[in-house]
Amino acid sequence: MTIASVPLDGGLSMPLLGFGTWQIEGQAAYEAVREALEAGYRHLDTATVYGNEAEVGRALADSGVPRDEVFVTTKMPAHQAGQEREVLAASLEALRVSTIDLWLIHWQPSAGHSVPMWRAMLAARDEGLVRAVGVSNYDIKDIDELIDETGQKPAVNQIKWGPSLYDPALVAEHRDRGVVVEGYSPFKTTNLKDPVLTRIASAHGVDTARVVLRWHIQHGIVVIPKSVTPERISRNAQVGGFVLSEDEMAQIDKLRR
Ligand SMILES: NC(=O)c1ccc[n+]([C@@H]2O[C@H](COP(=O)([O-])OP(=O)(O)OC[C@H]3O[C@@H](n4cnc5c(N)ncnc54)[C@H](OP(=O)(O)O)[C@@H]3O)[C@@H](O)[C@H]2O)c1
Repeated sequence: MTIASVPLDGGLSMPLLGFGTWQIEGQAAYEAVREALEAGYRHLDTATVYGNEAEVGRALADSGVPRDEVFVTTKMPAHQAGQEREVLAASLEALRVSTIDLWLIHWQPSAGHSVPMWRAMLAARDEGLVRAVGVSNYDIKDIDELIDETGQKPAVNQIKWGPSLYDPALVAEHRDRGVVVEGYSPFKTTNLKDPVLTRIASAHGVDTARVVLRWHIQHGIVVIPKSVTPERISRNAQVGGFVLSEDEMAQIDKLRR
């Protein structure tokens, strides 16, 4: 499976398809990540607050897939402002890696903490502990505050996304600033039985979940579906073998609510 990537500053390449791990804990997290790596995912999304970094790290280590072939994202909890170094050290240890590919501020910290947290993250990047830094659940005005105060843009903003939330103006605002949009909850935000999706899916001989993933990828939006079900983990990774037409993309765009 070859899935396209999006370039990030510093020569990094972020696969447009990743594997989400929220609400998968313990042995289930280990097994799901092993399954995902087996199915061909080369991008894993976790977070300190998911409580599964150790299982993700163990699965990655046991998989035999070389570390440098897998893009690993984790996230800094906003409520732990001031403890960035301790949190990062714990993430690196749990994930069993010497560097994290992308470290995100998980959500907007309380007033006054966003810029200091951003500076701490930039310092970690400059020391090589993480390769890129970004944010999640940030508004454009919150991104602009970081840029205005530090001159450094987040590489990525990870936000809730899917056809129902499609907003080309918001994508353009991110792209104007050189910020990659990464979508989360692609299925939870979508009616997978929608007749438009069903029709397009049957035209390509795939399921509607894959149509939704393919729609993200063709828009250049990073997408990180989660599943604990082996067949779904594998099927969700099979999004390279068909292409949505411009007309089909436009029909899906119109599912915006
Ligand atoms: N930054 C943030 O604040 C934030 C917030 C939310 C999520 N995220 C990230 O984004 C990832 C994805 O989002 P999400 O976990 O909220 O939701 P999601 O990926 O949209 O949906 C997961 C749900 O869809 C089901 N599913 C998976 N594949 C399916 C398929 N082919 N057909 C039908 N149903 C399918 C899963 O069931 P089974 O597992 O039972 O198969 C699960 O119930 C997370 O895991 C996390 O890494 C980030």
